This record gives sequence, C-alpha cells and structure tokens, in this order.
Amino acid sequence: MLGVNNLYVKYEGSNPTGSFKDRGMTVAISMAKYLGAKAVVCASTGNTSSSMAAYARKAGLKPVLVVPKNGVASGKMAQAVLYGATVIEVNGNFDLAMKLVINLAKDLKVYPLNSINPWRLEGQKTVGYEIVDELGVPDWISIPVGNAGNITSLWKGLKELMMAGLISKLPKILAVQADGASPIVKAFHNGRYVPQVSVETIASAIKIGSPVHWERALKVLKESGGNALAVSDLEICEAQKMLARAEGLGVEPASAASIAGVKKAVDLGIIKADELVVAIATGSALKDPESALGHEVEYLKSMDGEAAAEAINRLVNNDVDIRYGSTY
Ligand code: F0G
Repeated sequence: MLGVNNLYVKYEGSNPTGSFKDRGMTVAISMAKYLGAKAVVCASTGNTSSSMAAYARKAGLKPVLVVPKNGVASGKMAQAVLYGATVIEVNGNFDLAMKLVINLAKDLKVYPLNSINPWRLEGQKTVGYEIVDELGVPDWISIPVGNAGNITSLWKGLKELMMAGLISKLPKILAVQADGASPIVKAFHNGRYVPQVSVETIASAIKIGSPVHWERALKVLKESGGNALAVSDLEICEAQKMLARAEGLGVEPASAASIAGVKKAVDLGIIKADELVVAIATGSALKDPESALGHEVEYLKSMDGEAAAEAINRLVNNDVDIRYGSTY
C-alpha cells in the first residue's frame, strides 16, 4: 500500500500512559525526587503532561501542567483530570505555554520537565535501543517532530550504541511535520530557520511553531543523511485510517504523520522499495477520540434482535473483500 516492502511500526501507545513520553518521564521524575523538588511543571500539547502527572503522583510530587486552551485532545485532558494535576490553560498555543514554563521554572523554582530537561532525553533513547534489539539497524527511521526532543534523543541513543561498538552503522532519519506546523522541514529545505507564528493542524500533539530543539533536529538530519517532509492533514487522516484498518493499530494523528511521511518519501523516491523502514507511532488513538470519530463507518442504529441478526448474517455471508483499500 505504501510502496515499501519492509515497513515496521514501533507502537508507543502501549507505554503506561499511552505515549512515548513515559520513557523519559520515569527517569526525569526520579531525578526530580532525588533533587528534592516538591512540584514539577511542563508545557504540553497533552502527552508530556499526562505522563508527567502520572509519574509525579506516584512519586508524591505536585504536577502543574501548562497547556494551550482548546489545544489538547480530550483523552489527554481526561488523564490530567484523573491524575489530579493542576492545569493552567493559556490563551495561546504551545509556544506561549513553553515560554511561560521557562520563566516559571526560573522564578518559582519548580522543576521543569519539558525536553529542555536532559533526563527526559536520556530516558527517551530506549526507543532506538528496542528497535535495534528487535530488528538490527534499519535503513530509515521515520519520526514525527514537534518540539524535536524525541528526534534528538533517538539519535543520541543510536550514536552511543555505535560508539560502544554495539552497532556498526546508523539509520537515516526522516523527520515528519504537519503542513501547518513545519518550521523544521522548511529550515531543512531552505537552509534558514524561521519560527512559525501561526500554526494549524489536526495533529494537535505536534502543533508547534517554535521548537526548542530545532537546531539539534537539523543536525540529526544532516549527520544521518536523512530528510524532512511535511504532510497534509488529509494525508495524516488517511494514514491513521489505513494503519487502523489494515493492521488493527490505533494511533493518534501526530503518530500517523510518520506513516504518511513514509508514503510521501517513497513517492518522491527518497525511500527505496527494498529498504528496511521503521515508523515510530508515538501515541495511542485513545488519546484523541475525536480524530477517530471523524472517520466514516457503517453504523446500523436502533435495531431489534431480529434486524441485528439479519444484518450480521448479511455481513457474514456476502463475499465483499474488506481488506483495507478494497471496500473502504
Ligand atoms: N507525537 C506525539 C504523540 C507527541 O505527543 C509529540 C510531542 C510528538 C510526536 C513530537 O515529539 O516534541 O519530541 O518532537 N508532544 C509534546 C507534548 C510536545 O507536550 O506532549 P517531540
């Protein structure tokens, strides 16, 4: 379907709070505790905050989340409420929340847990270790990019494996952003980084115009001989649906961007059909139920037992091919 023979999805939705953020959070919260912090803070599009709230509670630290008003998917807000975090909503996007947290951390001495925290990035290296453990070194790793912490961490981990002599080559990294929030993709192709002031995409997790680690992300792409692509919301939704209906894997839109990116890279001849590719799917579909509910479905409502039985019979006995790409 994507034009590549060997594509693996590294599914991060099975981490304890449903996204890759737990990898770094367990390390960083342990450090916060060790350093004697009483409260921890982060700006977030929803996944960092869910993860931070869960791990902070377990450690007995107070979680303070700074989030863009109306910018966080409902599954992630539900987690914040469940874990009993203090939620500060700002009238603006993630970039404003991030600025606020940097100031808060300086003035109020609460421990910041965004990816400016080096322990977060240390913990997130394990995604690369697991890929290499299971598959060896792929030709490409496709990764969705927002604040660019994860791409930085992935590459640091892989380079350290190389320095330790545990692997003998490195993959090329494909950075994927949404069309409406793509400062790193633009910088990669134009040779000049300009923060994006107004951002818009269905992939709310990566709706970021001023990524903290933009410079490091560009370095990763250069060092790895990789590439950077922007994908449209339509391409993201199509990839989300394809992954769900062809593989039974439910991912949130930001995660589907990495799959959409692979398709685009194959179409453009950047990735070759015989290359071994891993796409990192960073978070679960349950994080963003609204995006899932946006897809079409056959919905037979208010049936009695007999009508339901008839409908099921029809479905079982017809010869319609329901593999993805045939009927849907
Ligand atoms: N995918 C998902 C599902 C995310 O939540 C994020 C980032 C990314 C990809 C991009 O990772 O920022 O390291 O480049 N979410 C952050 C948050 C911003 O607050 O949850 P990145």
